[in-house]
Amino acid sequence: MTMNHAEMVEKNRKFTLASWKTQAGWDPITIEKAEGVYFWDVEGKKYLDWSSQLINVNIGHGNKHVIEAIQEQLVKFCYCSPSIATEARARLGELLREIIPINNCKVFFSNGGAEAVENAMKMARLFTGRQKIITRYRSYHGATFGAMTAGGDPRRLANEPGIPWIRYVHGPYPYRNPIYRGRTVEEGEKILADLIEETIHYEGPKNVAAIMLEGYSGSSGILQGGKVFWDRIQEICDNNHILLIIDEVMSGFGRTGEWFGINHQPQVKPDIICLAKGITSAYVPLGATAVSGKIASYFDDNVLWCGLTNSSQTLGCAAAVANIEVYRRENLIERSRKMGEILNAELMKLKEKHLSIGEIRGIGLHFIIELVKNRETREPMSPFNSALTEPMQKVGKILQKNGLSTLIRWNWIFCTPPLIITKEQIQEGINIIDEALNEADKFYQG
Ligand SMILES: Cc1ncc(COP(=O)(O)O)c(C=O)c1O
Repeated sequence: MTMNHAEMVEKNRKFTLASWKTQAGWDPITIEKAEGVYFWDVEGKKYLDWSSQLINVNIGHGNKHVIEAIQEQLVKFCYCSPSIATEARARLGELLREIIPINNCKVFFSNGGAEAVENAMKMARLFTGRQKIITRYRSYHGATFGAMTAGGDPRRLANEPGIPWIRYVHGPYPYRNPIYRGRTVEEGEKILADLIEETIHYEGPKNVAAIMLEGYSGSSGILQGGKVFWDRIQEICDNNHILLIIDEVMSGFGRTGEWFGINHQPQVKPDIICLAKGITSAYVPLGATAVSGKIASYFDDNVLWCGLTNSSQTLGCAAAVANIEVYRRENLIERSRKMGEILNAELMKLKEKHLSIGEIRGIGLHFIIELVKNRETREPMSPFNSALTEPMQKVGKILQKNGLSTLIRWNWIFCTPPLIITKEQIQEGINIIDEALNEADKFYQG
């Protein structure tokens, strides 16, 4: 180490730009080392990584098997042109075919989630000869120009008008979406899906290449539809020959207690699946777009107009192979499910204790706490798409002070730790959140 905390922060701020914020408001913590579910800043302060960084370090930090696999590949060669065949790429393609819920899928590799989404949209449009892609409000699909427009997340607004062929629809959110008022969740889901079908009819079904949805909603707020919703989405796709693109960038690789979020709805048959994040647990960047055998064979005789200097990057492929081995050897998918039950039970206890908790949503190790000023009115503790209000800022400061690192967005606290977390470590995180929520409760207006 050559830099102390102050110098590191100062130079990061002086010479580099930070994502999604005014630069003047960037006050970063630092990191020197990471191990398991913890990391340490340069002054030795320990943090529990309650969000797996950006919900991507699924296997935890410092996994020896993955590090050795990367080192082994590094020594052999680090890079080759994507037109050259490699063992790492071959092994990864084969492993992905075993776990991805698409028959005879073939995979195109990229550098991250946004690129996986860009290539999914390109391939859907090339294969169908149709133009439009239907996505849901609030969803996030990445920050490149097309993926940004495809996301219904408000971050896209700074890039408007974006690409012209995206159409948004409302998605499941029983806690707030007015469609659900006075109805059961199933009734609400049915109406929601009927409206999506109606939107498609207005847009012209023959102009719609694909519907793109997150396999399990993530940064959009863990807002997931149930069986009624997904049955109808599949039906709408089938009836109109529209492809179904499932974005598993965040929800893939055990996050929700299944290999992929969409595995919770086994009747759904995606045509294309987008992957990144947990594919390598971010040890090396990698994205992937998996397409059905039918779509893949279309490109046997039609040019695949997709390409990247770092497509099938060898270190990324080697890291992903080793990651999948870790998920399997350490039973991390099952572990996510089991630890998720413990996390859920603990979060429910917090809900009983803290009036400021409006709703807890999630599954596996993929949970969110939604804070409100009043349980009747459901007024959010911090409004959608605005700077964090005082209560959320205070909650964030207490969590940080007490050594818990996580994502806070509007009135949401993400609870998405690495899949290797133990029962004791869950309790450690819950205790820190418990204390922070005492502060949130002071802003409750009951
Ligand atoms: C569902 C989903 N899709 C795509 C992306 C974009 O991934 P990346 O930031 O690797 O481009 C994200 C990132 O959070 C995501 O959650």
